[in-house]
Amino acid sequence: MADAVIEQIKQRVDIIELLSEYLKLQKAGSNWRALCPFHHENSPSFMVSQDKQIWHCFGCDKGGDIFTFIQEIEGIDFPETLKLLAQRANVTLAHYNPSQQDKKQRLLQLVNAAQQFYAQALQQSQDGEVARNYIAQRGLTDASVSAFGIGYSFDTWSRLKDYLKAQGYSDSDQAEAGLLIKPDGGGGYYDRFRGRLMIPLHDINGTVVGFTARTLKADETGGKYINSPQSSLYDKSHIVFGLFRAKQAIKKLNAALVVEGNLDAITAQQHGFPNTVATSGTAFTEQQLLQLKRFSSNLLLAFDLDAAGEQAAQRGIDLALQHNMNIKVVRWPEQYKDPDECIRADAAVFKEAIRQAIHIVDYWFMQASRDLQLTRVEHKKLFTQRILPKLAKLADHVEVAHYVQRLADLVRVDANLLHEQLAKLRGGKGNAVKVKGQGSAVSNQQLEVRIGRLGWLSIFWVSY
Ligand code: UTP
Ligand code: MN
Repeated sequence: MADAVIEQIKQRVDIIELLSEYLKLQKAGSNWRALCPFHHENSPSFMVSQDKQIWHCFGCDKGGDIFTFIQEIEGIDFPETLKLLAQRANVTLAHYNPSQQDKKQRLLQLVNAAQQFYAQALQQSQDGEVARNYIAQRGLTDASVSAFGIGYSFDTWSRLKDYLKAQGYSDSDQAEAGLLIKPDGGGGYYDRFRGRLMIPLHDINGTVVGFTARTLKADETGGKYINSPQSSLYDKSHIVFGLFRAKQAIKKLNAALVVEGNLDAITAQQHGFPNTVATSGTAFTEQQLLQLKRFSSNLLLAFDLDAAGEQAAQRGIDLALQHNMNIKVVRWPEQYKDPDECIRADAAVFKEAIRQAIHIVDYWFMQASRDLQLTRVEHKKLFTQRILPKLAKLADHVEVAHYVQRLADLVRVDANLLHEQLAKLRGGKGNAVKVKGQGSAVSNQQLEVRIGRLGWLSIFWVSY
């Protein structure tokens, strides 16, 4: 039965139309050709046959049909792909219903119903006025509110619970989806989110899996933001805020602009930076980086790297470097607290800050030398001690050689000496540049990335 459904979908979804949403396809004889999205290349070896409805890359040897393509590029499993393409083809999946899937489906519907309830409360309820005022004050447009599905939760204990119950959803399902709290000491379930601006958290495909909720009180009682707890639907480490809207722009502009705050991301997208995502105030996880890397290897970090929480951000940066990603640091004028403030004051200023973004290693050099005089021998030593451990984290040998030379020039010592020290640093900690799951296939790809990056160092910029 499943085979029949698959065939039906294949008949209704044209491979050229579908792949064009992800790639720049060009006609080549009876086939189509593009740069392969699955490995780095400069001349196109990714071929698509419209007659056969298949694709193949002669560079990395990947290939298949529309199902394998969507699985690869969206990073989703087969059942999810089937669902996605069935929707597109208007095919009903009556025969694909294992019970596990049933439950997940039910919880997703429930979260979706909650999102609509919150959105409606924001638009139409009298109580929602406080949130409408807040949105106006933050300069969010109707278009942004609707694109992100922003809403309002009533400042009461069971408004959502009662509503969802009337829709047929049990308390325990609501709790499992993270919407209700059951007190430890007994007593009934009550609404987790009360009196807050409700910002949905979407997975990469735009499905709502949870919420982050901002207080509307000036004193921020109960925490500025509270978030959905980890659940079978929502895994914090897998979600990149805003990616569902930003992914195509990230691919097109070949860089992701990364901010810390979710609202920074919404503001940025609204003001002409469509490739913006947010880390939601935590360090990058491997899963998040791999999702981003599917669309581009280039990260423009608009973080406050001088702030107290910088250590955590640094861990994420190290991880990105280990994955051979290119990182630039965006520094906006100090008078603005965060990108949101800067962009709202003057988007052109932020745009210029992006244009002047500096390579992460240049940033480290700057930071490390700030309080030092490199003419003094003890400062030279200190500087080297600060910089070398950082260089030990870089995965790219050419890059390492380049920056070791720079360091050698600055402190006026023999580069070979520094290379020796670097080798010791790396030896001591195991190989700092090893990427998880490094097999022969992966190293091939890395090699390719590296070759690609030779010409990379200086030519990575984004223009809007
Ligand atoms: P910030 O406090 O920098 O966020 O925290 P922000 O976006 O500038 O907040 P606004 O502008 O006052 O609304 C950055 C991110 O850290 C997470 C949120 O995801 C937030 O977007 N955070 C922050 C929490 O989860 N809980 C908190 O209490 C605070
Ligand atoms: Mn802010």
